[in-house]
This record gives sequence, structure tokens and C-alpha cells, in this order.
Amino acid sequence: MLTLSESGPLSPPQLGSRHWPGLIHHYAQWLPVTDATPVVSLCEGNTPLIAAPAIAKRMGKPCEVYLKYDGLNPTGSFKDRGMTMAVSKAKEAGASAIICASTGNTSAAAAAYAAQGNMKAYVVIPDGYVAKGKLAQTLMYGAEIIAIKDNFDKALAMVRQLTEKYPVALVNSVNRYRLEGQKTAAFEVVDSLGDAPDWLCIPVGNAGNITAYWMGFCHYYQHKKATRRPRMMGFEAEGSAAIVRNQVIEHPETIATAIRIGNPASWVRAKASYQASHGTIDSVTDDEILDAYRLLARSCGVFCEPASAASVAGLLKYRDQVPAHARIVCVLTGNGLKDPETAILHSHAQIQTGVEPDLKSIVKAMGMD
Ligand code: F0G
Repeated sequence: MLTLSESGPLSPPQLGSRHWPGLIHHYAQWLPVTDATPVVSLCEGNTPLIAAPAIAKRMGKPCEVYLKYDGLNPTGSFKDRGMTMAVSKAKEAGASAIICASTGNTSAAAAAYAAQGNMKAYVVIPDGYVAKGKLAQTLMYGAEIIAIKDNFDKALAMVRQLTEKYPVALVNSVNRYRLEGQKTAAFEVVDSLGDAPDWLCIPVGNAGNITAYWMGFCHYYQHKKATRRPRMMGFEAEGSAAIVRNQVIEHPETIATAIRIGNPASWVRAKASYQASHGTIDSVTDDEILDAYRLLARSCGVFCEPASAASVAGLLKYRDQVPAHARIVCVLTGNGLKDPETAILHSHAQIQTGVEPDLKSIVKAMGMD
């Protein structure tokens, strides 16, 4: 009997018709896989596109806003899309170990897919700058975690050097299969809406995802699965806005630790993508990110991580330029549960503690007395 990780893309496991087989099986014809590719999957992809009327209302004109909630992937971020491809292709090439640098989400995804693929994972992270949930996941999945006394950019430089000399496969987004997997999010957006949106708002860190989305929209457009392509609107955090400032940031800072990156690996391709789409890459402040983070949770019921909220913060910043009747998709890259500390510190809400267990006290605490 075939297990999921042993089946090739053309022979997904035979389960019921409503079973989602993961994005490699579903989009095999659009991906560089063959029947010989050992698919390592956790049934990633197929994430919801959620209508956000509360955000549309803030545009001050009739328009539609949707949230592509990729925080509902198996490890809670969009990284699973790229990791199913990178790990499957590494396995196909005979690798038994993988490595990545990460601000947290890539490491969680690498560790989980390595576990499912029966491989060893090493992750190099900036010491003290990875959200607790991401660390917890990566520990549980059994990766070797190496925390360096420097930032993500240094970690990436180190793993790039290391993989030239040692027999471990690099699974950062400089691995071309990562972006191939991530482009499927654009396919899903078009498959859900029936066409490409007018705008796509997306957070930018290492700049791989904006590049991958653009690839996906272009492929669908070329194959007439969409009649148009969106304007790509990318948003960096102000304290790490290398592309916006057109210079490497030696000491990037932001509350959105996932995008605390000062020298994005896909800088050139991301720039080409937004320019070809007549879009932009701009920055948003930490305060704007936190406002959008709370708005998404309070007004839409969607809890994302701070970096993800940069897409909505960016849309709010550009609200005056939104054309009437536009269809806009904001990408929410990661789940809010990954970063409980930031949520608790910045929710602007409080727990009423020490309440006596009687009706009178509880009614009083409810403000109904
Ligand atoms: N949002 C989240 C939640 C992320 O984790 C990242 C990147 C991004 C946005 C930016 O995407 O790098 O493709 O521009 N996280 C990487 C990591 C760097 O190591 O997890 P990008």
C-alpha cells in the first residue's frame, strides 16, 4: 500500500472525493514534479479566502476585500506551500538532511516536513527574535535548533555557505522549488474568485512570497486561466524596509519579527514583479501593523501574526488610491497563535482576574449590574 510520502504526484492516495490531497497532487501539472517525485505532504494549501466587509468599509467607497488566510496551513503559515515542494525535491535528489535560516515560520515548516519525510532538519535562527509558538513547534517536530547571536540575514549567509560544503539541502526560498510551491496560493486566489483580483496586498520580508505570487498570476494569465493580473502591493516594516530605501539595513528592527530582514534574498525579483504589475513596495510602521492586527481580530474574527497584518496596514495606507469597485486580496501569511506574547501585550484588552465565583460578582464583571 502506498503511503502519502511514497506516492508520486500523479498517483495521490485514493481517499474519498472530498479529500484534499495537498497542493502538489492538486496542482501537479503546474509544478516541476514527475511521477518519480516522492511527495512529502501534510495536505497543505486550499486555505480560505475570507470576505472582510469591515475592511472594505474603511476604504470609503464600494469595493470588495478578501483575506487569503494562509495561517490555516498545517504548520500555521504559507511556508508549508514552499516546503512541501522543497522537501519532496530534496528527497527526490537523495538528500537525507535539510537546513534553513529562519525568523521562525520557515523553521517550523522545514521541521514538520522533515519529520513527515523521515529526514533530519537543522534550523539557524536569530537568538531571541523568534516568536514563542514557532519555537515550540520547531522543538516538537524535532529539528536541531541553532540560535546565533546575530540576525536573519547573517543566518541566511551562514547556511548558504554551509550547504556548499556539507551534504544538507538548503530549503530557504533561494531554493527554486520553494517559490514554485508558493505560487499555488495565487492559483487558489484565482480559482476562488474566478479571475485575478485588482490588487494583491502582501507583507514583504525576504521577498520570496511576492515573487512567487507574481509567478503564479503570470502562469495562470499566460494559460488563460485569468484575464488579467493584479497590481502587486508589497509592504515591508518601516524598520526593515531595505527595498523601499534601496539599501541594505544592517540592523533591521520591527515588532513583526517574521519580516525583520535587512537584506532580502529575492530583492531583485520582487522589484521586477511589482514594477511589471504597476504596483509598489512601500513600508508600514509598527503602529500601523498593530492597528491592522487588532482590526483583523476584532472586526473580522481573523487572528493573524503581526507580520501578516502588514498587508492590511498597507491597504489602509493606500485607501485613497483604491479604485471604486476594486477587488482586493490581502494575504495573511501566518496564524496569530504563533506569537501569543505580542497578542497579550498589544490586544488593548484585559483579563478580569480574581473574580469571586458567584453570580453577583460575575454580573458585575460583565458590567450588567
Ligand atoms: N509573513 C510571515 C508570517 C513570514 O514568516 C514571512 C517570512 C513573511 C511574511 C515574508 O515573506 O520572506 O517571502 O517576503 N518569514 C521567513 C521565515 C523569513 O524564516 O519564516 P517573504
